[in-house]
Amino acid sequence: MAESSAASNAPFHLTGNFAPVSEERTETALAVTGAIPPELSGRFFRNGSNPQSGWSPHWFLGNGMVHGVEIQNGRATWYRNRYVKTPLLADPERNRIGEDGLIDRHYSCANTHVISHGGKILALEEGSFPFELTKDLETVGAWDYEGRLDTAMTAHPRICPETGELLFFGYGSTPPYLVYYRVARDGTLVQREEIDVKGPTMMHDWNVTRNHVIFMDLPVIFDMELAGKGGFPIRWSDDYGARLGVMPRDGTNDDVVWYEIDPCYVFHPMNSYEDGERIVLDVARFGKLAFGPQDGEGTPSMLHRWVIDQKAGTVSDTPLDDSPADFPRVHDRVVGLPHRYGYMAGMGNGPESLGASLYKYDLSTGKRLTHDLGGCQSGEPVMAAAPGARGEDEGWVMTFVYDPTTDKSDLVLIDATDFEKKPVARIHLPTRVPFGFHGSWIPDEA
Ligand SMILES: [Fe+2]
Repeated sequence: MAESSAASNAPFHLTGNFAPVSEERTETALAVTGAIPPELSGRFFRNGSNPQSGWSPHWFLGNGMVHGVEIQNGRATWYRNRYVKTPLLADPERNRIGEDGLIDRHYSCANTHVISHGGKILALEEGSFPFELTKDLETVGAWDYEGRLDTAMTAHPRICPETGELLFFGYGSTPPYLVYYRVARDGTLVQREEIDVKGPTMMHDWNVTRNHVIFMDLPVIFDMELAGKGGFPIRWSDDYGARLGVMPRDGTNDDVVWYEIDPCYVFHPMNSYEDGERIVLDVARFGKLAFGPQDGEGTPSMLHRWVIDQKAGTVSDTPLDDSPADFPRVHDRVVGLPHRYGYMAGMGNGPESLGASLYKYDLSTGKRLTHDLGGCQSGEPVMAAAPGARGEDEGWVMTFVYDPTTDKSDLVLIDATDFEKKPVARIHLPTRVPFGFHGSWIPDEA
């Protein structure tokens, strides 16, 4: 089983199909089972953690490697995987803290997400600057929006489908703990606002609507007393509290209205939208997140609906499912707008059981459909819209799927309107793609 069986007592993120691959490859002769929809042309890119040395202290700390498949007129023309070539990859021993005492934001794992906006493809990791890639996955270099980005950038920005703006934030373990940014459709950074939060919260993701952004100030915090013990100096806090901060998209810190909620953690919201005075947020919610061994037992993430009633000043929290799942996505066209459908990777109590099946939720009926992967495991389901699609689920759910019997992976395309049926196409790769984090379908016209 390739590199993966090297150390049976190694942590989960270094074993099985979490273990890194050692080669960068380019393959053009790709076998396909089924038929790739001929109207698809573009690239599916997915980022993940692939420690170059073969070892990292935490799943989140490996060097970023992007795996990509190009599709042209219904043909799979190449697969390639490339490290994101950051200064950290070139010089792992380099001190990230500069002589001025500030963190060097070029020192990036660049391992979490890959998006396209303003004519640039960007590999993202929440502690650092983004890194620009070419369509062939070569690294151009760090991108700091012509010097206007002076903090880290989240790996979970949102592109507004109506304005084309890229909305994001950066958080830090030192002040300023939270900074909001807005980037115009053409890639120009046009707004920067420092936002007050109670402390150094680990804000992985957030929410946007047509007129607002919603920050999640939740009780997973930096604790430098944990530094030096390996992994992250991050823990659950019983004292920090939890709240949601609603701000107009062109607002400032003075405009943020905070709403207290029960302590919990959300890595990943599915989507959010406005409904009159209410804001509806569908999120993958952990009752308690056990970030490290110091935190004891956690609870798995499941789909919940928060409704913020801005008039009454209240937030309701309703479980929508009792089956653990994470990595939620919606159609790019409904980001920040009312959505009917959402897609998630089924998950047990921990990342080791990620993606044994995929879920499609119909939020209008509460019904969940399951795509059984038959003993294989996947990752985040990415919705690739059919060109000219009118229906929200007209398109294909794409994800890399690992088959333990062959120790190889396929890129799978599932018809989202016929979700429980077998994939319309499996693009067979000559290697395995380690389980990773987030990705995008980037059509040629993007
Ligand atoms: Fe994430």
